[in-house]
Amino acid sequence: MALKVYGRGITSHPCRPRQSAQSVLKNRLGPLHSGRVSRKFRVVIFLSPNRCCRIKVTVFQRTMTEQIVILDFGSQYTQVIARRIRECNVYSVIVRYDTPAEELAHLVPKGLILSGGPASVYAKDAPHPDPEIFKLNIPVLGICYGLQLLAHYLDGKVEPGLKREFGKGTLCVKDSFCPLFANLPETLQVWNSHGDRLTKLPKGFKSVAVTENSDYAAIESRDHKTFGLQFHPEVVHTPHGREILANFVHNICGCGKNWTMHNYIDQAVENIQAKVGDEKVILGLSGGVDSSVAAALIHRAIGDNLTCIFVNNGLLRGREASVVREVFGRHFHIKLQYEDASRLFLTRLKGVTEPERKRKIIGKTFIEVFEEATKRAGKAKFLAQGTLYPDVIESIPIAGNPAAMIKSHHNVGGLPKKMRFQLVEPLKCLFKDEVRELGLELGLPREIVLRQPFPGPGLAVRILGEVTPSRLEILRNADAIVVEEMKATDWYYKIWQSFAVLLPVRSVGVMGDERTYDYTIALRAVESQDGMTADWVKLPYDLLEKLSNRIINEVKGVNRVCFDITSKPPGTIEWE
Ligand code: XMP
Repeated sequence: MALKVYGRGITSHPCRPRQSAQSVLKNRLGPLHSGRVSRKFRVVIFLSPNRCCRIKVTVFQRTMTEQIVILDFGSQYTQVIARRIRECNVYSVIVRYDTPAEELAHLVPKGLILSGGPASVYAKDAPHPDPEIFKLNIPVLGICYGLQLLAHYLDGKVEPGLKREFGKGTLCVKDSFCPLFANLPETLQVWNSHGDRLTKLPKGFKSVAVTENSDYAAIESRDHKTFGLQFHPEVVHTPHGREILANFVHNICGCGKNWTMHNYIDQAVENIQAKVGDEKVILGLSGGVDSSVAAALIHRAIGDNLTCIFVNNGLLRGREASVVREVFGRHFHIKLQYEDASRLFLTRLKGVTEPERKRKIIGKTFIEVFEEATKRAGKAKFLAQGTLYPDVIESIPIAGNPAAMIKSHHNVGGLPKKMRFQLVEPLKCLFKDEVRELGLELGLPREIVLRQPFPGPGLAVRILGEVTPSRLEILRNADAIVVEEMKATDWYYKIWQSFAVLLPVRSVGVMGDERTYDYTIALRAVESQDGMTADWVKLPYDLLEKLSNRIINEVKGVNRVCFDITSKPPGTIEWE
Protein backbone atom coordinates (compact mmCIF):
# COMPACT_ATOMS: atom_id res chain seq x y z
CA MET A 1 0.00 0.00 0.00
CA ALA A 2 1.68 3.22 -1.08
CA LEU A 3 0.77 6.32 0.74
CA LYS A 4 2.22 9.76 0.35
CA VAL A 5 1.50 12.43 2.90
CA TYR A 6 2.51 16.04 2.78
CA GLY A 7 2.66 18.24 5.88
CA ARG A 8 5.53 18.61 8.34
CA GLY A 9 3.93 17.67 11.56
CA ILE A 10 0.68 18.03 13.24
CA THR A 11 2.15 19.42 16.37
CA SER A 12 4.42 22.36 16.44
CA HIS A 13 1.29 23.87 18.00
CA PRO A 14 1.63 23.11 21.71
CA CYS A 15 -1.94 22.14 22.41
CA ARG A 16 -1.64 19.27 20.04
CA PRO A 17 -0.15 16.01 21.22
CA ARG A 18 3.56 15.79 20.54
CA GLN A 19 3.32 13.80 17.37
CA SER A 20 4.55 14.45 13.91
CA ALA A 21 2.79 13.32 10.81
CA GLN A 22 5.60 10.85 10.33
CA SER A 23 5.23 9.38 13.80
CA VAL A 24 1.48 9.01 13.34
CA LEU A 25 2.14 7.18 10.13
CA LYS A 26 4.83 5.10 11.75
CA ASN A 27 2.64 4.14 14.71
CA ARG A 28 -0.34 3.36 12.64
CA LEU A 29 1.11 1.90 9.46
CA GLY A 30 4.64 0.90 10.22
CA PRO A 31 7.83 2.58 8.97
CA LEU A 32 7.31 1.59 5.37
CA HIS A 33 4.61 4.11 4.86
CA SER A 34 6.09 7.22 6.41
CA GLY A 35 5.60 10.27 4.26
CA ARG A 36 7.46 13.43 3.40
CA VAL A 37 5.86 16.64 4.49
CA SER A 38 5.64 20.38 4.08
CA ARG A 39 4.59 22.83 6.82
CA LYS A 40 1.30 23.75 5.31
CA PHE A 41 -0.73 20.73 6.22
CA ARG A 42 -1.41 18.31 8.97
CA VAL A 43 -2.50 14.77 8.65
CA VAL A 44 -5.00 12.66 10.52
CA ILE A 45 -5.20 8.97 9.92
CA PHE A 46 -7.94 6.61 11.06
CA LEU A 47 -7.50 2.89 11.07
CA SER A 48 -10.09 0.24 11.64
CA PRO A 49 -9.60 -1.57 14.98
CA ASN A 50 -8.11 -4.66 13.38
CA ARG A 51 -5.62 -2.46 11.49
CA CYS A 52 -6.41 -4.07 8.17
CA CYS A 53 -7.71 -1.99 5.34
CA ARG A 54 -10.04 0.91 6.16
CA ILE A 55 -7.72 3.87 6.14
CA LYS A 56 -8.87 7.41 5.92
CA VAL A 57 -6.25 10.06 5.46
CA THR A 58 -7.43 13.58 5.95
CA VAL A 59 -5.17 16.47 5.13
CA PHE A 60 -6.03 19.73 6.86
CA GLN A 61 -4.69 23.12 6.15
CA ARG A 62 -3.11 24.55 9.29
CA THR A 63 -4.84 27.73 10.37
CA MET A 64 -3.68 28.57 13.86
CA THR A 65 0.05 28.21 13.99
CA GLU A 66 0.55 31.83 14.96
CA GLN A 67 1.41 32.12 18.58
CA ILE A 68 3.02 34.39 21.11
CA VAL A 69 5.24 32.72 23.69
CA ILE A 70 5.36 34.16 27.20
CA LEU A 71 8.38 33.41 29.36
CA ASP A 72 7.23 33.20 32.94
CA PHE A 73 9.55 34.82 35.46
CA GLY A 74 7.14 34.24 38.32
CA SER A 75 4.77 37.19 38.07
CA GLN A 76 1.33 36.74 39.55
CA TYR A 77 0.06 38.30 36.30
CA THR A 78 1.66 35.92 33.80
CA GLN A 79 -1.62 34.14 33.13
CA VAL A 80 -3.34 37.48 32.78
CA ILE A 81 -0.90 38.40 29.99
CA ALA A 82 -1.72 35.13 28.23
CA ARG A 83 -5.45 35.81 28.54
CA ARG A 84 -5.13 39.36 27.24
CA ILE A 85 -3.23 38.11 24.18
CA ARG A 86 -5.89 35.51 23.51
CA GLU A 87 -8.54 38.19 23.84
CA CYS A 88 -6.80 39.73 20.82
CA ASN A 89 -7.63 36.43 19.04
CA VAL A 90 -3.99 35.37 19.05
CA TYR A 91 -2.94 32.09 20.61
CA SER A 92 -0.46 32.40 23.47
CA VAL A 93 1.41 29.92 25.61
CA ILE A 94 3.32 30.24 28.84
CA VAL A 95 6.67 28.49 29.20
CA ARG A 96 9.31 28.42 31.91
CA TYR A 97 11.70 31.37 32.00
CA ASP A 98 14.72 29.16 31.27
CA THR A 99 13.31 27.33 28.25
CA PRO A 100 16.25 26.95 25.84
CA ALA A 101 16.18 29.26 22.83
CA GLU A 102 16.38 26.24 20.56
CA GLU A 103 13.21 24.83 22.04
CA LEU A 104 11.50 28.20 21.71
CA ALA A 105 12.51 28.42 18.07
CA HIS A 106 10.82 25.08 17.57
CA LEU A 107 7.50 26.63 18.62
CA VAL A 108 7.89 29.17 15.80
CA PRO A 109 6.60 32.08 17.91
CA LYS A 110 5.58 35.30 16.21
CA GLY A 111 6.74 37.17 19.28
CA LEU A 112 8.16 36.71 22.78
CA ILE A 113 6.96 38.35 25.97
CA LEU A 114 9.13 38.37 29.07
CA SER A 115 6.79 38.52 32.05
CA GLY A 116 7.25 40.45 35.24
CA GLY A 117 8.46 38.73 38.38
CA PRO A 118 9.15 39.37 42.05
CA ALA A 119 12.94 39.03 41.87
CA SER A 120 15.66 41.59 41.33
CA VAL A 121 17.83 40.86 38.27
CA TYR A 122 20.96 41.01 40.42
CA ALA A 123 19.67 38.72 43.17
CA LYS A 124 21.50 35.43 43.70
CA ASP A 125 18.56 33.22 42.77
CA ALA A 126 17.02 35.54 40.18
CA PRO A 127 15.45 33.70 37.25
CA HIS A 128 17.35 34.30 34.02
CA PRO A 129 16.49 33.37 30.44
CA ASP A 130 18.73 31.62 27.95
CA PRO A 131 20.65 34.66 26.55
CA GLU A 132 20.33 33.14 23.09
CA ILE A 133 16.65 34.16 23.04
CA PHE A 134 17.77 37.68 22.14
CA LYS A 135 19.26 36.33 18.93
CA LEU A 136 16.11 34.61 17.71
CA ASN A 137 15.28 37.57 15.52
CA ILE A 138 11.64 37.81 16.60
CA PRO A 139 9.86 40.72 18.29
CA VAL A 140 10.33 40.87 22.08
CA LEU A 141 8.34 42.73 24.71
CA GLY A 142 9.70 42.87 28.26
CA ILE A 143 7.23 43.78 30.98
CA CYS A 144 8.51 45.16 34.30
CA TYR A 145 11.10 42.54 35.38
CA GLY A 146 11.18 41.62 31.68
CA LEU A 147 12.27 45.17 30.83
CA GLN A 148 14.97 44.96 33.46
CA LEU A 149 16.22 41.75 31.88
CA LEU A 150 16.49 43.53 28.55
CA ALA A 151 18.68 46.11 30.23
CA HIS A 152 20.72 43.47 31.99
CA TYR A 153 21.45 41.46 28.85
CA LEU A 154 21.67 44.26 26.33
CA ASP A 155 24.11 46.54 28.09
CA GLY A 156 21.86 48.81 30.10
CA LYS A 157 21.73 49.28 33.87
CA VAL A 158 19.21 48.48 36.58
CA GLU A 159 19.45 49.78 40.13
CA PRO A 160 17.34 49.45 43.25
CA GLY A 161 14.78 52.28 43.41
CA LEU A 162 14.78 54.50 46.48
CA LYS A 163 11.28 53.31 47.16
CA ARG A 164 9.04 50.77 45.56
CA GLU A 165 6.78 52.28 42.89
CA PHE A 166 3.40 50.73 43.40
CA GLY A 167 0.02 51.76 42.05
CA LYS A 168 -1.31 54.24 39.52
CA GLY A 169 0.92 56.47 37.47
CA THR A 170 0.58 58.76 34.46
CA LEU A 171 2.47 57.86 31.32
CA CYS A 172 3.43 60.54 28.79
CA VAL A 173 4.22 59.15 25.36
CA LYS A 174 7.13 61.15 23.90
CA ASP A 175 7.33 59.38 20.56
CA SER A 176 3.92 59.01 19.01
CA PHE A 177 5.43 56.96 16.18
CA CYS A 178 6.27 54.11 18.53
CA PRO A 179 4.11 51.26 17.18
CA LEU A 180 3.26 50.10 20.73
CA PHE A 181 1.28 53.30 21.28
CA ALA A 182 -0.30 53.60 17.84
CA ASN A 183 -3.78 55.13 17.97
CA LEU A 184 -3.53 55.83 21.70
CA PRO A 185 -3.67 59.13 23.57
CA GLU A 186 -0.40 60.82 24.50
CA THR A 187 -1.21 60.63 28.19
CA LEU A 188 -2.25 57.31 29.68
CA GLN A 189 -3.04 55.97 33.10
CA VAL A 190 -0.80 53.00 33.94
CA TRP A 191 -0.22 50.69 36.86
CA ASN A 192 3.21 50.09 38.35
CA SER A 193 4.58 47.50 40.71
CA HIS A 194 8.36 47.47 40.86
CA GLY A 195 11.27 48.04 43.19
CA ASP A 196 14.29 48.17 40.83
CA ARG A 197 14.40 50.65 37.99
CA LEU A 198 16.27 51.26 34.79
CA THR A 199 19.02 53.89 35.11
CA LYS A 200 20.81 53.41 31.78
CA LEU A 201 19.23 52.45 28.49
CA PRO A 202 20.33 49.23 26.85
CA LYS A 203 22.46 49.63 23.74
CA GLY A 204 20.53 50.78 20.67
CA PHE A 205 17.40 51.65 22.69
CA LYS A 206 15.64 54.95 23.24
CA SER A 207 13.02 56.06 25.70
CA VAL A 208 9.57 56.51 24.16
CA ALA A 209 7.48 57.28 27.26
CA VAL A 210 8.05 58.62 30.77
CA THR A 211 6.20 58.70 34.08
CA GLU A 212 6.61 61.09 37.00
CA ASN A 213 9.10 58.64 38.55
CA SER A 214 10.87 57.22 35.52
CA ASP A 215 12.49 58.54 32.36
CA TYR A 216 12.40 55.03 30.95
CA ALA A 217 8.81 53.87 31.45
CA ALA A 218 8.70 52.56 27.87
CA ILE A 219 11.73 51.87 25.71
CA GLU A 220 12.28 50.55 22.22
CA SER A 221 14.83 49.36 19.73
CA ARG A 222 12.54 49.68 16.77
CA ASP A 223 14.92 48.15 14.23
CA HIS A 224 15.18 45.02 16.33
CA LYS A 225 11.49 45.07 17.22
CA THR A 226 12.40 44.90 20.91
CA PHE A 227 10.35 46.84 23.45
CA GLY A 228 10.18 47.23 27.21
CA LEU A 229 7.48 48.53 29.55
CA GLN A 230 8.15 49.39 33.16
CA PHE A 231 4.42 49.25 33.97
CA HIS A 232 1.91 46.40 33.63
CA PRO A 233 -0.25 46.67 30.49
CA GLU A 234 -2.05 43.41 31.33
CA VAL A 235 -3.90 44.59 34.46
CA VAL A 236 -7.24 46.37 34.39
CA HIS A 237 -5.74 49.38 36.17
CA THR A 238 -3.93 50.18 32.92
CA PRO A 239 -7.09 51.03 30.96
CA HIS A 240 -5.40 51.15 27.54
CA GLY A 241 -3.15 48.16 28.31
CA ARG A 242 -5.18 45.85 26.12
CA GLU A 243 -4.61 48.12 23.11
CA ILE A 244 -0.88 48.28 23.84
CA LEU A 245 -0.71 44.48 23.82
CA ALA A 246 -2.90 44.36 20.70
CA ASN A 247 -0.47 46.76 19.00
CA PHE A 248 2.39 44.47 19.94
CA VAL A 249 0.83 41.25 18.63
CA HIS A 250 -0.85 42.65 15.52
CA ASN A 251 1.26 45.62 14.40
CA ILE A 252 4.68 44.53 15.58
CA CYS A 253 4.52 40.71 15.48
CA GLY A 254 2.15 40.67 12.50
CA CYS A 255 -0.32 38.18 13.99
CA GLY A 256 -3.77 37.86 12.47
CA LYS A 257 -6.92 37.09 14.45
CA ASN A 258 -7.13 33.32 14.09
CA TRP A 259 -7.65 32.23 17.65
CA THR A 260 -11.41 31.92 18.13
CA MET A 261 -13.43 29.19 19.78
CA HIS A 262 -15.31 28.78 16.53
CA ASN A 263 -12.05 27.82 14.80
CA TYR A 264 -10.87 25.82 17.78
CA ILE A 265 -13.75 23.37 17.54
CA ASP A 266 -12.62 21.95 14.19
CA GLN A 267 -9.05 21.71 15.33
CA ALA A 268 -9.95 20.06 18.64
CA VAL A 269 -12.30 17.61 16.97
CA GLU A 270 -9.55 16.54 14.60
CA ASN A 271 -7.09 16.13 17.45
CA ILE A 272 -9.50 14.00 19.45
CA GLN A 273 -10.20 11.84 16.42
CA ALA A 274 -6.49 11.48 15.74
CA LYS A 275 -5.79 10.45 19.31
CA VAL A 276 -8.74 8.21 19.96
CA GLY A 277 -9.35 6.61 16.57
CA ASP A 278 -12.09 4.01 16.95
CA GLU A 279 -11.49 3.39 20.66
CA LYS A 280 -14.04 4.10 23.40
CA VAL A 281 -13.85 7.03 25.82
CA ILE A 282 -15.36 7.38 29.27
CA LEU A 283 -16.00 10.74 30.89
CA GLY A 284 -17.08 11.51 34.44
CA LEU A 285 -19.74 14.16 33.98
CA SER A 286 -20.27 16.31 37.06
CA GLY A 287 -22.64 18.84 35.53
CA GLY A 288 -20.03 21.55 36.02
CA VAL A 289 -18.80 23.71 33.15
CA ASP A 290 -15.55 21.90 32.38
CA SER A 291 -16.76 18.32 32.21
CA SER A 292 -19.90 19.42 30.35
CA VAL A 293 -17.97 21.28 27.66
CA ALA A 294 -15.47 18.41 27.37
CA ALA A 295 -18.38 15.99 26.93
CA ALA A 296 -20.03 18.07 24.19
CA LEU A 297 -16.73 18.50 22.35
CA ILE A 298 -15.69 14.86 22.52
CA HIS A 299 -19.17 13.78 21.52
CA ARG A 300 -18.91 15.96 18.45
CA ALA A 301 -15.63 14.20 17.61
CA ILE A 302 -16.47 10.57 18.26
CA GLY A 303 -20.24 10.34 18.78
CA ASP A 304 -21.36 7.13 20.44
CA ASN A 305 -17.84 6.03 21.26
CA LEU A 306 -18.15 8.41 24.21
CA THR A 307 -19.95 7.27 27.36
CA CYS A 308 -20.55 9.81 30.12
CA ILE A 309 -20.97 8.60 33.67
CA PHE A 310 -22.94 10.85 35.97
CA VAL A 311 -22.84 9.95 39.65
CA ASN A 312 -25.64 11.29 41.81
CA ASN A 313 -24.04 11.41 45.26
CA GLY A 314 -27.19 12.70 46.92
CA LEU A 315 -25.38 15.96 47.69
CA LEU A 316 -26.33 17.84 44.54
CA ARG A 317 -28.25 21.08 44.20
CA GLY A 318 -31.97 20.92 43.49
CA ARG A 319 -32.31 20.45 39.72
CA GLU A 320 -28.77 19.34 38.99
CA ALA A 321 -29.40 15.69 38.13
CA SER A 322 -32.46 16.42 36.02
CA VAL A 323 -30.74 19.21 34.05
CA VAL A 324 -27.81 16.94 33.21
CA ARG A 325 -30.08 14.11 32.11
CA GLU A 326 -32.23 16.46 30.08
CA VAL A 327 -29.38 18.30 28.34
CA PHE A 328 -26.96 15.47 27.68
CA GLY A 329 -29.29 12.52 27.40
CA ARG A 330 -32.33 13.90 25.66
CA HIS A 331 -30.97 16.98 23.88
CA PHE A 332 -27.45 15.97 22.79
CA HIS A 333 -28.20 12.23 22.65
CA ILE A 334 -24.96 11.50 24.42
CA LYS A 335 -24.71 8.01 25.92
CA LEU A 336 -25.30 8.79 29.57
CA GLN A 337 -24.90 6.26 32.33
CA TYR A 338 -26.74 7.61 35.35
CA GLU A 339 -25.54 6.16 38.67
CA ASP A 340 -27.78 6.95 41.58
CA ALA A 341 -25.53 6.29 44.57
CA SER A 342 -27.16 8.82 46.88
CA ARG A 343 -28.21 6.23 49.41
CA LEU A 344 -24.69 4.82 49.70
CA PHE A 345 -23.16 8.27 50.22
CA LEU A 346 -25.74 9.31 52.81
CA THR A 347 -25.42 6.04 54.71
CA ARG A 348 -21.66 6.47 54.94
CA LEU A 349 -22.02 10.08 56.06
CA LYS A 350 -24.40 9.19 58.89
CA GLY A 351 -23.19 10.64 62.19
CA VAL A 352 -20.11 12.27 60.60
CA THR A 353 -19.56 15.89 61.58
CA GLU A 354 -15.85 16.48 61.12
CA PRO A 355 -15.22 18.36 57.80
CA GLU A 356 -12.10 16.49 56.70
CA ARG A 357 -13.68 13.12 57.41
CA LYS A 358 -16.74 14.08 55.38
CA ARG A 359 -14.54 15.02 52.43
CA LYS A 360 -12.53 11.79 52.69
CA ILE A 361 -15.62 9.60 52.81
CA ILE A 362 -17.14 11.37 49.84
CA GLY A 363 -13.91 11.22 47.81
CA LYS A 364 -13.36 7.53 48.50
CA THR A 365 -16.97 6.58 47.83
CA PHE A 366 -16.93 8.50 44.58
CA ILE A 367 -13.91 6.58 43.34
CA GLU A 368 -15.50 3.26 44.26
CA VAL A 369 -18.77 4.09 42.54
CA PHE A 370 -17.05 5.50 39.49
CA GLU A 371 -14.74 2.53 39.08
CA GLU A 372 -17.65 0.12 39.30
CA ALA A 373 -19.57 2.22 36.80
CA THR A 374 -16.68 2.19 34.31
CA LYS A 375 -16.76 -1.62 34.37
CA ARG A 376 -20.41 -1.59 33.43
CA ALA A 377 -19.78 1.01 30.73
CA GLY A 378 -17.80 -1.51 28.69
CA LYS A 379 -14.18 -1.68 27.67
CA ALA A 380 -12.70 1.76 27.11
CA LYS A 381 -9.12 2.76 26.42
CA PHE A 382 -9.48 6.44 27.26
CA LEU A 383 -10.72 8.52 30.16
CA ALA A 384 -11.63 12.12 29.36
CA GLN A 385 -11.06 14.93 31.83
CA GLY A 386 -11.90 18.61 31.76
CA THR A 387 -8.40 19.74 32.77
CA LEU A 388 -7.84 23.44 32.03
CA TYR A 389 -4.71 25.38 31.08
CA PRO A 390 -4.14 26.90 34.54
CA ASP A 391 -4.00 23.32 35.93
CA VAL A 392 -1.10 22.40 33.69
CA ILE A 393 1.00 25.55 33.68
CA GLU A 394 4.04 24.81 35.71
CA SER A 395 4.19 27.33 38.53
CA ILE A 396 7.51 29.04 39.09
CA PRO A 397 8.57 28.60 42.71
CA ILE A 398 10.04 32.01 43.31
CA ALA A 399 9.69 33.54 46.74
CA GLY A 400 6.87 36.05 46.78
CA ASN A 401 5.03 34.48 43.88
CA PRO A 402 1.51 33.51 44.96
CA ALA A 403 1.08 31.45 41.79
CA ALA A 404 3.56 28.98 43.23
CA MET A 405 1.05 27.96 45.88
CA ILE A 406 -1.78 27.16 43.55
CA LYS A 407 -0.85 23.55 42.89
CA SER A 408 -0.99 22.58 46.56
CA HIS A 409 -4.68 23.47 46.67
CA HIS A 410 -7.31 20.80 47.15
CA ASN A 411 -7.85 18.34 44.38
CA VAL A 412 -10.19 19.06 41.52
CA GLY A 413 -10.73 15.75 39.76
CA GLY A 414 -10.06 13.25 42.50
CA LEU A 415 -9.61 10.12 40.39
CA PRO A 416 -6.93 7.60 41.34
CA LYS A 417 -3.52 7.68 39.67
CA LYS A 418 -3.50 3.91 39.08
CA MET A 419 -6.16 4.26 36.41
CA ARG A 420 -5.72 1.90 33.56
CA PHE A 421 -6.90 4.54 31.09
CA GLN A 422 -5.06 6.88 28.83
CA LEU A 423 -6.18 10.47 29.24
CA VAL A 424 -8.01 12.70 26.79
CA GLU A 425 -7.93 16.33 27.91
CA PRO A 426 -9.31 18.49 25.12
CA LEU A 427 -9.53 21.68 27.21
CA LYS A 428 -5.95 21.50 28.40
CA CYS A 429 -4.87 24.60 26.52
CA LEU A 430 -7.91 26.76 27.40
CA PHE A 431 -8.67 29.27 30.10
CA LYS A 432 -12.00 29.14 31.88
CA ASP A 433 -13.54 32.03 29.95
CA GLU A 434 -12.54 30.30 26.70
CA VAL A 435 -14.16 27.08 27.89
CA ARG A 436 -17.41 28.95 28.50
CA GLU A 437 -17.24 30.50 25.05
CA LEU A 438 -16.53 27.08 23.55
CA GLY A 439 -19.52 25.63 25.41
CA LEU A 440 -21.81 28.26 23.92
CA GLU A 441 -20.36 27.61 20.45
CA LEU A 442 -21.13 23.92 20.93
CA GLY A 443 -24.73 24.74 21.74
CA LEU A 444 -24.74 24.06 25.48
CA PRO A 445 -27.37 26.04 27.39
CA ARG A 446 -26.38 29.13 29.41
CA GLU A 447 -27.62 27.38 32.52
CA ILE A 448 -24.67 24.99 32.25
CA VAL A 449 -22.05 27.14 30.57
CA LEU A 450 -22.40 30.12 32.89
CA ARG A 451 -22.76 28.02 35.99
CA GLN A 452 -20.83 29.07 39.06
CA PRO A 453 -18.25 26.61 40.46
CA PHE A 454 -19.67 23.93 42.71
CA PRO A 455 -17.44 21.83 44.99
CA GLY A 456 -17.02 18.10 44.37
CA PRO A 457 -18.31 17.16 47.86
CA GLY A 458 -21.42 19.19 47.06
CA LEU A 459 -23.83 20.40 49.69
CA ALA A 460 -22.08 18.29 52.33
CA VAL A 461 -19.50 21.05 52.83
CA ARG A 462 -22.29 23.60 53.12
CA ILE A 463 -24.13 21.72 55.86
CA LEU A 464 -22.19 22.23 59.04
CA GLY A 465 -22.52 19.23 61.28
CA GLU A 466 -24.21 16.01 60.25
CA VAL A 467 -25.57 15.61 56.72
CA THR A 468 -29.08 14.20 56.92
CA PRO A 469 -31.89 14.00 54.34
CA SER A 470 -33.94 16.62 56.21
CA ARG A 471 -31.02 19.06 56.43
CA LEU A 472 -30.28 18.50 52.76
CA GLU A 473 -33.85 19.39 51.95
CA ILE A 474 -33.67 22.62 53.95
CA LEU A 475 -30.44 23.65 52.25
CA ARG A 476 -31.67 22.71 48.77
CA ASN A 477 -34.76 24.84 49.21
CA ALA A 478 -32.79 27.82 50.50
CA ASP A 479 -30.15 27.39 47.79
CA ALA A 480 -32.78 27.31 45.03
CA ILE A 481 -34.05 30.70 46.20
CA VAL A 482 -30.53 32.13 46.22
CA VAL A 483 -29.86 30.91 42.67
CA GLU A 484 -33.23 32.17 41.43
CA GLU A 485 -32.89 35.67 42.90
CA MET A 486 -29.25 36.04 41.95
CA LYS A 487 -30.09 35.11 38.37
CA ALA A 488 -33.13 37.39 38.29
CA THR A 489 -30.93 40.36 39.20
CA ASP A 490 -28.02 39.19 37.02
CA TRP A 491 -25.70 39.17 40.04
CA TYR A 492 -25.29 35.41 39.57
CA TYR A 493 -23.36 36.02 36.33
CA LYS A 494 -21.26 38.90 37.64
CA ILE A 495 -19.58 37.14 40.54
CA TRP A 496 -17.60 33.96 41.23
CA GLN A 497 -19.99 32.22 43.62
CA SER A 498 -23.12 32.78 45.65
CA PHE A 499 -24.76 30.18 47.84
CA ALA A 500 -26.46 29.28 51.09
CA VAL A 501 -24.90 27.48 54.03
CA LEU A 502 -26.90 25.68 56.70
CA LEU A 503 -25.57 26.31 60.19
CA PRO A 504 -26.11 23.88 63.06
CA VAL A 505 -27.33 26.81 65.12
CA ARG A 506 -30.92 27.17 66.24
CA SER A 507 -32.29 30.37 67.59
CA VAL A 508 -35.57 31.74 68.84
CA GLY A 509 -37.90 33.71 66.59
CA VAL A 510 -41.52 34.73 66.21
CA MET A 511 -43.63 33.97 63.18
CA GLY A 512 -47.22 35.16 63.39
CA ASP A 513 -48.20 34.54 66.96
CA GLU A 514 -45.90 31.61 67.39
CA ARG A 515 -42.46 31.28 68.81
CA THR A 516 -40.05 29.36 66.59
CA TYR A 517 -36.80 27.62 67.37
CA ASP A 518 -35.20 26.98 64.00
CA TYR A 519 -31.99 26.86 61.98
CA THR A 520 -29.89 29.68 60.55
CA ILE A 521 -28.89 30.10 56.92
CA ALA A 522 -25.70 32.00 56.09
CA LEU A 523 -25.51 33.63 52.68
CA ARG A 524 -22.15 33.76 50.95
CA ALA A 525 -21.33 35.80 47.83
CA VAL A 526 -17.75 36.17 46.65
CA GLU A 527 -15.79 37.74 43.87
CA SER A 528 -12.67 35.93 42.68
CA GLN A 529 -10.44 35.28 39.65
CA ASP A 530 -9.50 31.70 40.39
CA GLY A 531 -10.82 30.76 43.83
CA MET A 532 -7.40 31.23 45.43
CA THR A 533 -8.29 34.57 46.95
CA ALA A 534 -11.72 36.14 47.19
CA ASP A 535 -13.54 39.24 48.35
CA TRP A 536 -17.03 39.21 49.73
CA VAL A 537 -19.49 40.96 47.44
CA LYS A 538 -21.40 44.02 48.60
CA LEU A 539 -24.79 42.84 47.36
CA PRO A 540 -27.47 45.57 47.37
CA TYR A 541 -29.56 45.75 50.56
CA ASP A 542 -32.83 45.25 48.71
CA LEU A 543 -31.54 42.00 47.20
CA LEU A 544 -30.35 40.79 50.61
CA GLU A 545 -33.69 41.77 52.06
CA LYS A 546 -35.55 39.80 49.41
CA LEU A 547 -33.35 36.75 49.90
CA SER A 548 -33.83 36.86 53.65
CA ASN A 549 -37.61 37.32 53.43
CA ARG A 550 -38.08 34.59 50.90
CA ILE A 551 -35.89 32.06 52.70
CA ILE A 552 -37.56 32.64 56.05
CA ASN A 553 -41.08 32.60 54.57
CA GLU A 554 -40.62 29.72 52.16
CA VAL A 555 -38.12 27.35 53.74
CA LYS A 556 -39.54 25.37 56.56
CA GLY A 557 -37.06 24.99 59.42
CA VAL A 558 -35.26 28.34 58.94
CA ASN A 559 -36.02 31.46 60.97
CA ARG A 560 -32.81 33.50 60.63
CA VAL A 561 -30.55 34.58 57.74
CA CYS A 562 -27.03 36.03 58.08
CA PHE A 563 -24.66 37.43 55.48
CA ASP A 564 -21.03 36.30 55.54
CA ILE A 565 -18.65 39.28 55.19
CA THR A 566 -15.37 37.33 55.35
CA SER A 567 -12.84 37.52 52.53
CA LYS A 568 -10.32 34.83 51.60
CA PRO A 569 -7.85 34.88 53.20
CA PRO A 570 -8.42 34.64 56.12
CA GLY A 571 -11.64 32.70 55.45
CA THR A 572 -12.14 30.04 52.80
CA ILE A 573 -14.94 30.29 50.27
CA GLU A 574 -16.72 27.14 51.40
CA TRP A 575 -17.46 26.80 55.09
CA GLU A 576 -15.94 23.32 55.41
P1 XMP B 1 -12.16 27.18 49.27
O1 XMP B 1 -13.31 26.79 50.11
O2 XMP B 1 -10.98 26.29 49.42
O3 XMP B 1 -12.66 26.99 47.77
O4 XMP B 1 -11.81 28.62 49.43
C1 XMP B 1 -12.03 27.50 46.62
C2 XMP B 1 -12.86 27.11 45.42
O5 XMP B 1 -12.83 25.69 45.23
C3 XMP B 1 -14.13 25.13 45.33
N1 XMP B 1 -13.99 23.88 46.10
C4 XMP B 1 -13.87 22.67 45.55
N2 XMP B 1 -13.89 22.27 44.27
N3 XMP B 1 -13.61 20.02 44.94
C5 XMP B 1 -13.77 20.95 43.97
O6 XMP B 1 -13.82 20.57 42.80
C6 XMP B 1 -13.56 20.34 46.26
O7 XMP B 1 -13.39 19.49 47.12
C7 XMP B 1 -13.70 21.74 46.57
N4 XMP B 1 -13.71 22.42 47.73
C8 XMP B 1 -13.89 23.75 47.42
C9 XMP B 1 -14.97 26.17 46.05
O8 XMP B 1 -16.34 26.06 45.72
C10 XMP B 1 -14.33 27.45 45.55
O9 XMP B 1 -14.80 27.79 44.27
